[in-house]
Amino acid sequence: MAQDQDRPAGPDLTQGVALSELTDGGKLVGHVGEEEVLLLRRGMEIFAVGAHCTHYHGPLVDGLVVGETVRCPWHHACFDLSTGEALHAPGFDPLPCWSVEKRDGQVFVADKRKQPAPRRRGASTGKAPERIVIVGGGAAGFAAAERLRREDYQGSIVMLTSDDAPPVDRPNLSKDYLAGKAPEEWVPLRPDDFYSDNGIELRLKTEVAGIDAGAREVMLADGSSLAYNRLLLATGAEPVRLPIPGAELAHVRTLRSLADSRAIIKRAETARRAVVLGASFIGLEVAASLRARDIEVHVVAPEKRPMERIFGPEMGDFVRALHEEHGVVFHLEDTAEAIDAKQVTLKSGQTLNADLVIVGVGVRPRLDLAEKAGLALDRGVVVNAYLETSAPGIFAAGDIARWPDPLSGEQIRVEHWVVAERQGQTAALNMLGHGEKFTAVPFFWSQHYDVPINYVGHAENWDELSIEGDIAAKDCLLRFKRDGRLLAVASIFRDLECLEAEVAMEREAAAA
Ligand SMILES: Cc1cc2nc3c(=O)[nH]c(=O)nc-3n(C[C@H](O)[C@H](O)[C@H](O)COP(=O)(O)OP(=O)(O)OC[C@H]3O[C@@H](n4cnc5c(N)ncnc54)[C@H](O)[C@@H]3O)c2cc1C
Ligand code: FES
Repeated sequence: MAQDQDRPAGPDLTQGVALSELTDGGKLVGHVGEEEVLLLRRGMEIFAVGAHCTHYHGPLVDGLVVGETVRCPWHHACFDLSTGEALHAPGFDPLPCWSVEKRDGQVFVADKRKQPAPRRRGASTGKAPERIVIVGGGAAGFAAAERLRREDYQGSIVMLTSDDAPPVDRPNLSKDYLAGKAPEEWVPLRPDDFYSDNGIELRLKTEVAGIDAGAREVMLADGSSLAYNRLLLATGAEPVRLPIPGAELAHVRTLRSLADSRAIIKRAETARRAVVLGASFIGLEVAASLRARDIEVHVVAPEKRPMERIFGPEMGDFVRALHEEHGVVFHLEDTAEAIDAKQVTLKSGQTLNADLVIVGVGVRPRLDLAEKAGLALDRGVVVNAYLETSAPGIFAAGDIARWPDPLSGEQIRVEHWVVAERQGQTAALNMLGHGEKFTAVPFFWSQHYDVPINYVGHAENWDELSIEGDIAAKDCLLRFKRDGRLLAVASIFRDLECLEAEVAMEREAAAA
């Protein structure tokens, strides 16, 4: 039985499959040796690529084929079927590709192809900048540096980050890594030598203290300065701290960095009872991860239902019930007023014992550098469609950027991993003069136990919610509309429909 499970899926594709088994648009998983291969047909063209997404191994057979690309059902990475190239984050590594032969009504998968070079894009305007400085070693900063080198940029890249670790898979810090289900070696986005091998000068524990936009220089906290030709600001966000007595105690933690996650894990080794303040995505993901470590968890939050503002009351009730099934105790419509070494005192007067307290009450974009440099701000750094700020040569991406969203026609700012990475990629192209608008439709996911919730679009306010399927059965698609116009969808285990909604929104945005 165990042997069967280890065997790669489907037919041996080197032995051939009947062309008739693969209808136009059809997909089939088989194997070549030990490797699982996805065969896809578009008209008379057949592609053979790796069957699993290079992000978290999502099954591409359940994804969506759009033109000559395939999108992953889990977190919407997009790959070129001809070259395997990862076109859109969160995928970065290419898919392997195999050559295909058609003979006598059969399709044979032959040798693995040498990884083709990524498709070249059109000429850029002007001379390539000599030095690009990236402030921030998070999602946007990493994706920008990676894309610059993938575009064969030959100039100098300097990445400055106040973090003490190279860029990490931040979403994992509240999920499997915190739950003890993912080893630490899965957390870095790339091995340490990636940066030196690719000529990316990564300076850890380096705080940028100021920017002189006129002189095109950044000033570091140690008093030195560094000249740039293009600058990417990707300083992300920081957790909001609670202004209550006891918030500074050692067992009261926030979660943003790998160091934060490690510190929580260390305390979780001996903690018996945790109080999570805030029923945000991070708060609830932390609650789930601490339950996986068998710690008693109480969640305190001011709202009536968790996540109601984003997902509506039905999904809010579902999220609550899901956590309750796993033993989480909610204290809703209540807030913390004080924390001491053993207890959290609530506004209602109730006291909760706690030897670990996690504060997950939201984040604030890190805007001080942009503000001091005199960049235009509006509850974020204002950027145009090319992600350029009000200062020429300075771009911004990720949690700090407020950009013109073609779909809603509004200036929006979001705090999503995939958006930050995709903005980093677009900013990289524009720092090289490619003039590419950022038109991606926002996407995020959140994971609670074995239930992923995916969300596409952006609906800050909505006046109509329709629910298809059954939320309690974990099989649903929610549509959020305003004035009759679809703004966003959320789904549980309806990945294909979620991807289809993304493509429809992209088309609408492109036509806007
Ligand atoms: C625990 C956790 C789980 C998450 N899970 C999800 C999820 O499941 N799905 C999702 O869509 N989103 C998730 N997010 C949100 C997502 O991680 C962020 O939207 C994303 O990281 C934003 O990327 P960024 O590059 O803008 O900022 P960050 O990734 O925060 O990077 C900012 C970088 O800037 C550096 N920096 C800031 N100021 C300075 C300075 N002055 N000098 C030098 N360096 C500086 C910081 O040290 C950091 O390296 C999660 C976030 C956290 C914390
Ligand atoms: S597993 Fe494919 S995008 Fe995450």
